[in-house]
Amino acid sequence: MKILNDKLAKVLAAKRDELKAIGKEHGDKVVGQIAVEQVLGGARGMVALVCDTSTVPADKGLHIRGIPIGELAERLPEEIYYLLLTGELPDAAAVKEINAEFAQRNKVPSYVFDVLDAMPADSHPMAMLNTAVLVMQRESVFAKRYESGMPKDEYWQAALEDGLNLLARLPGIAAAIYRKRFKKGPRIESNPKLDWGANYAHMLGIDDPKGEFKQLMRLYLVLHCDHGAGNVSACTASTVGSALSDLYYSLSAGLNGLAGPLHGLANQECLKWVTETMEKFGGVPSVAQITKYAEETIAAKRVVPGYGHAVLRVEDPRFTAFVKFGKAHFPEDPVFKTVQNVYQAVPAVLKQHPKIKNPWPNVDAASGSLLCHYGLTEADYYTVLFSVSRALGITAQAVLARGMGLPIFRPSDTTTKKLREAAEKSTTKAG
Ligand SMILES: CC(C)(COP(=O)(O)OP(=O)(O)OC[C@H]1O[C@@H](n2cnc3c(N)ncnc32)[C@H](O)[C@@H]1OP(=O)(O)O)[C@@H](O)C(=O)NCCC(=O)NCCS
Repeated sequence: MKILNDKLAKVLAAKRDELKAIGKEHGDKVVGQIAVEQVLGGARGMVALVCDTSTVPADKGLHIRGIPIGELAERLPEEIYYLLLTGELPDAAAVKEINAEFAQRNKVPSYVFDVLDAMPADSHPMAMLNTAVLVMQRESVFAKRYESGMPKDEYWQAALEDGLNLLARLPGIAAAIYRKRFKKGPRIESNPKLDWGANYAHMLGIDDPKGEFKQLMRLYLVLHCDHGAGNVSACTASTVGSALSDLYYSLSAGLNGLAGPLHGLANQECLKWVTETMEKFGGVPSVAQITKYAEETIAAKRVVPGYGHAVLRVEDPRFTAFVKFGKAHFPEDPVFKTVQNVYQAVPAVLKQHPKIKNPWPNVDAASGSLLCHYGLTEADYYTVLFSVSRALGITAQAVLARGMGLPIFRPSDTTTKKLREAAEKSTTKAG
């Protein structure tokens, strides 16, 4: 892992110096205000984290290290991992090195499968994945080295070891969960000749004569890789990691957050909502029929999954990339056509509710229809795919956090009484 290690050593040394200098020169300067509505609104928009892997400008969507995600759609997930970690796209030798590392580290300990086998047959695939990650904690290089007195400036190297081991094993574990949970037959051995995304597709066992599903998996794993540091899963993972809990603890914690229906589970919910409309109207529903169904969903005090976002205020470029893939490969697929009709109908409905800040589709609005087309119809599994991808970002953020020497996370709290008193005393309005 020489290329990646050497590059990271340089990048992180410079980053540590930069952060130290900013703190020293400007430590007491004020860089933002906090309005009462932010305190009451899930800390929305409060800047409290440093994250260099990716940004999510509200008017543009995901950028990985300054590059719009749409421009990275043809890349391999391995390339994106290097980019997340170092800030640069890798050359062929660096990609080869990451692939070799993944191939060398991908053996899943047999006890992981024993634990999965012992879980109730109807366990949610996300509960299975997070259990598998957590049960491997005994493998943590970081935990072992910490116990034996590892100096602080080596933390990032140990975190990188954990990150690479986890990423190497996750596709095999995730594929095994799919095959077990949905009774698809025995586990499929990994194929060391394939790249990370294609190997995951291969181990899932989806029939793929033209290699299109492998292409979709690479795209899927690239598009979901990271989304800044403030989202529930990234924020949870980094909070847990800031206590120097190793990546097995922190990734599992973060992915438990991804399992929530307002976050990663929305892709599962989204396909269910789309197929509900198809069942209700007996085929591909018209825009008018979907409009009515969306209005009924909101009247029933439910959300329309796949639409809206805590940060974005435009169509999610990841949605755009998925739709482009669908249009190129199967424009006439009924579920995909329904997704496009939903896109024609739903924003107009949401715009009628001024409280909804973003009426546009997010990443989850189209992904399920693409997976369905290739026969991966089990929506309950979709957040596991999301998790395998998001592990790229979460593990990269952890390596950088340890490398930058970020401290334990400890925001402050207030009581309702104190908040009211402070708000009544304040004469400053946000903006
Ligand atoms: C993503 C999401 C959780 C963001 O929440 P948020 O930051 O609170 O968004 P807003 O400020 O726009 O929400 C304001 C109100 O509009 C509602 N709203 C937002 N998006 C909505 C949607 N797609 N359908 C119906 N109502 C929606 C919220 O539930 C909230 O209602 P409340 O005040 O009664 O609680 C929200 O848009 C949502 O639930 N979307 C559907 C689930 C989804 O697709 N999640 C995946 C995100 S990547």
